[in-house]
Amino acid sequence: MFLDQLAAHGIDRAHLIVPGSVIDLDRSACTVTHPSAAAATAPFADNKAEYLRQYQRDWAPWLASEKAGWGRPGHDLVAELAAWFEPLLEQAPITSAGVAGHVVLDTGAAETDVCIDFVESTVRTWKGEPYVYKLDVDRALLETLVDDHVEDWVNSLLLSCRFTTAHREGPFNEFVLTFFKALSPERMAYVEQCHRTARSRTDEFFERDGWRIERWCPHRQADLSRFGEIDDGVLTCSLHHWRFDLATGRCLTSDDRHLRAERLTPE
Ligand code: FES
Repeated sequence: MFLDQLAAHGIDRAHLIVPGSVIDLDRSACTVTHPSAAAATAPFADNKAEYLRQYQRDWAPWLASEKAGWGRPGHDLVAELAAWFEPLLEQAPITSAGVAGHVVLDTGAAETDVCIDFVESTVRTWKGEPYVYKLDVDRALLETLVDDHVEDWVNSLLLSCRFTTAHREGPFNEFVLTFFKALSPERMAYVEQCHRTARSRTDEFFERDGWRIERWCPHRQADLSRFGEIDDGVLTCSLHHWRFDLATGRCLTSDDRHLRAERLTPE
C-alpha cells in the first residue's frame, strides 16, 4: 500500500525490502532480490500474528546463543564503570548539564546497582536516590559490555531493548542517549564539540525578572532558563550553586567566569 501510495504521487523508484532481501546498486540501477517469493509476501499476509510467531521461532536459537555468551563474572562493576565513565563526565560539561541528575543501572542487587551522577561527575553504588532515568538491566549483560569495553551502549543495550524496564522522571532526555553512545574520549569530544558549535551559532539569551540573560551557565553549561534562580539581583544556577551578580556579570563563586546580562527595565 505504501509503495502504491508513493507511485500515486509520482515516486516510482521505491523498492520493497523484507528481512533477507539483497540490494545490488550499480550506478543508477537498483536490483532487489528477495530470499524467496513467499518471503516477500509473508509479512503482509492476513495472519500477521502467525508471521511474527514464526519470526520469533526462527530467531530463538540465535538469541539463546547470544545470551549464553553474556556474563563474565569477576568484575567490580561500580569501580570499573567509575574508572571508565568519570573521566568522560569531566570531559562532558554540556552533556552533563543536559542530564542534570542521576542515571541508574538497576541490576536488582544492591551492591551492583550503579548510579551515574551527572551533577557531581561521579559513578557510585546506587542507594535509592531520585533519578532522571533508571534502566533495569541484567547484570550479566553489564559485565559483558564492560568486559568488551563497548563504546556505544545505545545499540547494545537500548535500541535492541536488552534492558528489562526503563523508568524516567520527566520528559525524554536526549542527552542521556547521547552519553551512552559516546563512551570513549574521542566520541565524547565529538559530541561536546557538536553541542558547542550548535550553541555558538545561536548565542542564546532569555528574559526573566526584567533581565536579559545569557542562557548557558559559564560553569558547566546548564540551561539557565531552567536552572537559574534570581534573588535580589543575584542569579544562582541550581545545578552546582554558582552565583552571578547580574548588574556586573561577575561570578561570586569563582574568579574567572562572567555571565552576560543586561537590565531590560529601568530600576
Ligand atoms: S552548571 Fe554548574 S553552576 Fe551552573
